[in-house]
Amino acid sequence: MTQLVHGNSELRLAMNGLGSNICLVPTMGALHDGHAALIHAGKEFVGKDGCVVVSDFVNPKQFGQNEDFEKYPRNIEQDLKVARSAGAHILWAPSVEDVYPGQWPMDIETDPRFEILEGKSRSGHFAAVLEVVTRLFNIVQPNIAVFGEKDFQQLVFISEMAKKREPQIGILAVPTKRDFDGLALSSRNVYLSSDQRNVAHLIPDALKQGVLLASKGANLQEIKDSVKEVISKSNLIEIEYVDILNNELNELIPGIVGRILIAAKLGNTRLIDNMPILLKEES
Ligand code: PAF
Repeated sequence: MTQLVHGNSELRLAMNGLGSNICLVPTMGALHDGHAALIHAGKEFVGKDGCVVVSDFVNPKQFGQNEDFEKYPRNIEQDLKVARSAGAHILWAPSVEDVYPGQWPMDIETDPRFEILEGKSRSGHFAAVLEVVTRLFNIVQPNIAVFGEKDFQQLVFISEMAKKREPQIGILAVPTKRDFDGLALSSRNVYLSSDQRNVAHLIPDALKQGVLLASKGANLQEIKDSVKEVISKSNLIEIEYVDILNNELNELIPGIVGRILIAAKLGNTRLIDNMPILLKEES
C-alpha cells in the first residue's frame, strides 16, 4: 500500500517503522511506465527490508522562462495509482516551502559541461537540478537514489555530485523504457498531436542507425549526417542537437563505449533521447 504524504514531518512519520534501507526515486510526477521501472529497480535493490520513497515535485527552479512549468502535467491521483501498482511505499508530494525552506542558499559548483547539449538552450538548468536533488537527498537521507538514463546528461552530473558530496548515497541508473515503436517514455509525450506521435519513432530510429553505422566504422560526421537523414523523413521534426560523447560527456575515442545524444522539437514539444555507441577502432 502506497501512502501519499505532503509535508516533510509527515514524510518522516510515514518512514518511521518502514525498512531501514531507504531508496529515493526523484520525479516531477506525471508518472508513467518509465517511472514504474525506476521504482521496480529501487525495490529490487533495497530488498524486503527496504522503503521506497517517490518524490513528486515539479521543481520551478529548473524550468527556463519560456519552458513548460505552468503546463507541465500534474495529476496526483494518477501518480498515486502508478506508484501503488509499482509497489512504492511512499509518494511524497512536498510544497515549494518544504523543499526550499527559508531559501537558505546552496553552493553548486558550475562546470563547463553544464553549457553543452541541454545546457545550450537551458541556461541554469543543471545547477537547479543539482540543487533540488541535493535538497531532496538532505530531507529523505536515502541509501540509494534511482535515475533514468533518458536524462543522460543529468544522470552524469548527479552521479558525480553524489560521489563528491554525498558518497554515502548510491546512484542506481536504469535504462530508458520505450514505447511499442521505440519512442523513449517521457512525461512530455502527452503534448504530441497524433501526427507528431506517428513520426516520433524517427528519433530512436535515427539513433539506432547512428549506432549501426558506428559499428561499421563510420566517422563522427558520417554518423551525425545519417541521424539527420533519418529525421528528415518527416518535416514535423526539427533537430536541436546530435552529439557523440564519452560517458563523462567529453570527446569519445574509438574502442570505448560512449553515448549518442539527441534533442529534437516536434512543434513546441522538445524531446531528448540517447543510446550507447561504440566507434570502431581503425584496423
Ligand atoms: O528528472 C527529473 O524528473 C528531474 O530533473 C528531477 C531529477 C526529479 C529533479 O527535479
